[in-house]
Amino acid sequence: MAKKTPESTLPRRERAYLVGVQLRGEDGLLPLEDSLSELALLADTAGLVVVGQSTQKLDRPHSKTLIGPGKVEEIKSLADETLADIILFDEELSPRHTRELEAIFGERLRILDRTALILDIFAQHANTREGALQVELAQYEYRLPRLTRAWTHLARQAGGGGGRAGGVGGVGLRGPGETQLEVDRRDIDRRISHLRQELEKVRVHRQQYRVRRKRSNIPIVVLVGYTNAGKSTLLNRLASADVYVADQLFATLDPTTRRVELPGGYPVLFTDTVGFIQKLPTTLVAAFRATLEEIAEADLLLHVVDVTHPNAQAQATAVHQTLQEIEAGHIPVLTALNKIDLLQQPQRAEESLNAFPDAVAISATTGLGMPGLLKRLSQILYEKYSPVTVRLPFREGGLIALFHNQGQVERVEHDPGGVTLQGALPGRLLAQFAPFAVLPKQESTPPEAGGYPPG
Ligand code: GTP
Repeated sequence: MAKKTPESTLPRRERAYLVGVQLRGEDGLLPLEDSLSELALLADTAGLVVVGQSTQKLDRPHSKTLIGPGKVEEIKSLADETLADIILFDEELSPRHTRELEAIFGERLRILDRTALILDIFAQHANTREGALQVELAQYEYRLPRLTRAWTHLARQAGGGGGRAGGVGGVGLRGPGETQLEVDRRDIDRRISHLRQELEKVRVHRQQYRVRRKRSNIPIVVLVGYTNAGKSTLLNRLASADVYVADQLFATLDPTTRRVELPGGYPVLFTDTVGFIQKLPTTLVAAFRATLEEIAEADLLLHVVDVTHPNAQAQATAVHQTLQEIEAGHIPVLTALNKIDLLQQPQRAEESLNAFPDAVAISATTGLGMPGLLKRLSQILYEKYSPVTVRLPFREGGLIALFHNQGQVERVEHDPGGVTLQGALPGRLLAQFAPFAVLPKQESTPPEAGGYPPG
């Protein structure tokens, strides 16, 4: 009789067959193949085994099934051959696509898309109450229009890390003439409004905390970056903090803040945030508003880029796009090119630096380049002054006083509603004044740290 290997005693991992679609004229941020590789990594992070993949280039999406009927049949037989349990689409499926595909693929195969997968990973990694609430809300909002059969979809996996998502699946007493589906819908609606109320409370609390932190006048640097770029590792290095680091996508969900002293004894608060990813589900961006508000309150964004990644540039673009989406595009950005310890040839390092002018090259693991990064931060936040012109309404008395106290004022002009101040400000104050900047005629691109709309 065959002996059982230790592996065979482990629960069987679910098997996923990946499907990628490229629509003519809609070039994604990443080439189709790369987007699928990223999806495979996401699948692995979620605990799935990838057993195969298919792609299709289309002029327009098929109204019922996204991919064409021939392709559907092909994938069906490939899924049978590879003993797949899940068909995982790289594109977000509309509720109709999901319904039609479920009808064709039958009960044995589950239909999932990138959004559902990311939501699932987030559910596994939410450690705080706020994180769990946010993910649960996003999951329900995603599921509600897609309710077809019993919505135990992913419920098994979702319970993992404290997220309660999926926990109320199928509960509820049926009223007269109601189908189970209607009961489910009503339950979800109720749960969604409860979650919204709870999150609002957390938001108010967080807002009060931020006001207190702002009053302390210590600049806040928020680490942003594509998932797996090395933000948590960098925060650990900066603050000798013991933040969870893992070679996994979205290991960090909840913001962590550490106080650090820069050269010259200048204090600064560093906050780690959730990683970004291309095609970040909009439901998720909305649900994570409270967490993402941390970013909007930053005085400086430290954009961590994994410079060894073949798609480093596209990843950086995805981060910039998300920053615009959450209205953080006005905050100065300093780019840190991370993992340079892995660049074997100096030539590659130089190419990367050319692609990201003004960036600082570092290795969060070995500490290479860290003194340079800290010095740059000291300069930007405390030592260097950037020219600026702002018009402040009189109700912004605090900011008017701040400019006079900590900035260099060159010109003051009063009008009936407020005051225009021209002069220079240290980098740590630029973001606070940005909403009042008198911009030159041309629209400006996101400011590089240290630069600012000229006064
Ligand atoms: P998310 O939580 O997904 O947003 O990831 P993150 O950006 O916080 O990345 P994290 O710090 O968890 O690092 C991801 C992986 O990259 C880990 O395996 C780290 O050990 C590795 N890593 C981070 N920085 C460096 C570096 O400078 N050099 C090398 N070689 N590896 C690094």
